[in-house]
Amino acid sequence: MAHPKVIANWKMNGSLSKIHHWLYEFQSKVDPNSKTESIFCPPTCYLSFAKNIISENRIGIYLGAQDLDFDRDFSLTGGINASMLKDIGCDFIILGHSERRSYFFEDDSILLQKLNSAVEKNLKIIFCVGETKEEKNIGVSKEIIRTQLSILKKIPSNLLLLAYEPLWAIGTGEVPHPEYIQEMHETIKDELKSLNDSEIDSPVLYGGSVNEDNAPDIIKIISVDGLLVGGASLDADNFSKIVNKITG
Ligand code: PGA
Repeated sequence: MAHPKVIANWKMNGSLSKIHHWLYEFQSKVDPNSKTESIFCPPTCYLSFAKNIISENRIGIYLGAQDLDFDRDFSLTGGINASMLKDIGCDFIILGHSERRSYFFEDDSILLQKLNSAVEKNLKIIFCVGETKEEKNIGVSKEIIRTQLSILKKIPSNLLLLAYEPLWAIGTGEVPHPEYIQEMHETIKDELKSLNDSEIDSPVLYGGSVNEDNAPDIIKIISVDGLLVGGASLDADNFSKIVNKITG
């Protein structure tokens, strides 16, 4: 794969000083010409701060947000929309993460509006899909994934990255068998092609308990185009090792 992508999804973690140190350490440990594209997704309140450090020091990392609010026809206290994220220098947005689906009740109708807002502002979308352990055990993983993907019809493929994140692998230390990852990634790629009636292969990233030890083996799986890293991304040394190991 030409340019694997690695995403640091910080979730609700961090502080000004942690972000400051993390970005400088990342810069000192990762070759700025690395063929791997890294994307840093801190909490929204730190995005501008991170952007300033990245720009002033020309650090080779993109900036992504973990959520957005779609525009509504009423006022919305606390809302942050796609144009604001674009305005402060975000290139990417994570949508459909299982934690937001479950704790914030983000269903398909909400996600579709968020997707459309992102497309309108040209934000690249990292769209997460994944099944629960129960769904896997009763053999319906592929049906679940296809249903989650159905709202991506009409989303331009040049703005789309997929992240396959089985819920039972997130933060558990349990990583699926390589053949299972391969099968699920192929399912995602095929489904997207048929949804959009296109031959374009959208990048599909794997996420769920990725760390510096398992990253090299996961990236070797043929249809894995990158990694979405949660817990192991909080430490700059760990994250840099993942980036450097998959760059080869
Ligand atoms: P994890 O999280 O790497 O801590 O399992 C991944 C994610 O939820 O994006």
